[in-house]
Amino acid sequence: MENENQFYHSVAIGNLKLDGNLFLAPVAGYSDCAFRHLCKRGGANFSYTEMVSAEALVRGSGKTQELMVRAPDEDKYAVQIFGGEPQTVAKAALIVAERVNPEVIDINAGCPVPKIIKTGAGSALTRDPERLFEVVSQTKKALTEAGRDIPVTVKIRSGWDSSSLTWKEAADASLKAGADAITLHPRTRAQGYEGKADWSLLAELVKLVCGKIPVFASGDIFSPENVKACFEQTGVDGVMFARGAMGNPFIFDETKRFLLSGEHYSTPPNIRISAGMEELDILIKLKGEVTACREMRKRFCAYSKGLEKASQMRASIVSANTRADFAAIFSEYIS
Ligand SMILES: Cc1cc2nc3c(=O)[nH]c(=O)nc-3n(C[C@H](O)[C@H](O)[C@H](O)COP(=O)(O)O)c2cc1C
Repeated sequence: MENENQFYHSVAIGNLKLDGNLFLAPVAGYSDCAFRHLCKRGGANFSYTEMVSAEALVRGSGKTQELMVRAPDEDKYAVQIFGGEPQTVAKAALIVAERVNPEVIDINAGCPVPKIIKTGAGSALTRDPERLFEVVSQTKKALTEAGRDIPVTVKIRSGWDSSSLTWKEAADASLKAGADAITLHPRTRAQGYEGKADWSLLAELVKLVCGKIPVFASGDIFSPENVKACFEQTGVDGVMFARGAMGNPFIFDETKRFLLSGEHYSTPPNIRISAGMEELDILIKLKGEVTACREMRKRFCAYSKGLEKASQMRASIVSANTRADFAAIFSEYIS
């Protein structure tokens, strides 16, 4: 492939071939079809939906469909599901396959939210390798038996808390169950999103997995320089931007340029803000102006980062109710 180098290169997840290894992570409240559409245009090689409840899918709750919608022009994407009951997750995977036929189904074994953990899902799975094994193997089996050759991947944390680091056991269980890739976010459930991600665990995981399947990194990936350092220090096959992509869907192209040529390129604010307005327009079409504007408030706070009058702008952003309100706030930046 053209444009390959030591760090930026193609990667295969099961039968799926991706041109590059810079991904958008699953991020609830952000990585919907509108934002994924912009990230794809901004150079993301692959993107994950927000987590979707396996229980809700099986129950037939209407809202799940919205979370799984493929973005315009999104030829490849992953749907992430969460659940603690192996049979329910397997059934949910079949429903996902039937409804949207994604290129990958990812299993959330990292969410730290108490309501989710209580059901045995999210990071409860990282500390319960036997259950994780059942979730992954039953999901794989159900898809295979239904003739759906969709790779199944797993996203884990480093463990429950600093005295219970179970990522090794979780990774082992995932491998044995036939997972097609593992993403590690090397923070514990107790850390949430605070503190430093311990990349040394990623390097250990790469050794443990020994090239059998790809390993992806999540955690403290905020800039092209972070990506290069992460590749250098860990040897992972790909990285995910999560908070680092908020307000800048062009971070993927910026990173690719940096990895391929060493060039430091920052997307100008007017381009970023226009992308935010486009994101808003997509959401308005899908959900109507009231809901779209409410959902875009926090996202526009991210888009405003680094602007000259960012803190004043934020006060207006959090009370904006219409498209016109946002257009007025950002009038200097949009044509
Ligand atoms: C607001 C928010 C929502 C998130 N939602 C999900 C999710 O739905 N599924 C998931 O696996 N991880 C989720 N994550 C975790 C991210 O995918 C990522 O692993 C984490 O933010 C660490 O990366 P970072 O330090 O580069 O932001 C979420 C994180 C944040 C901040």
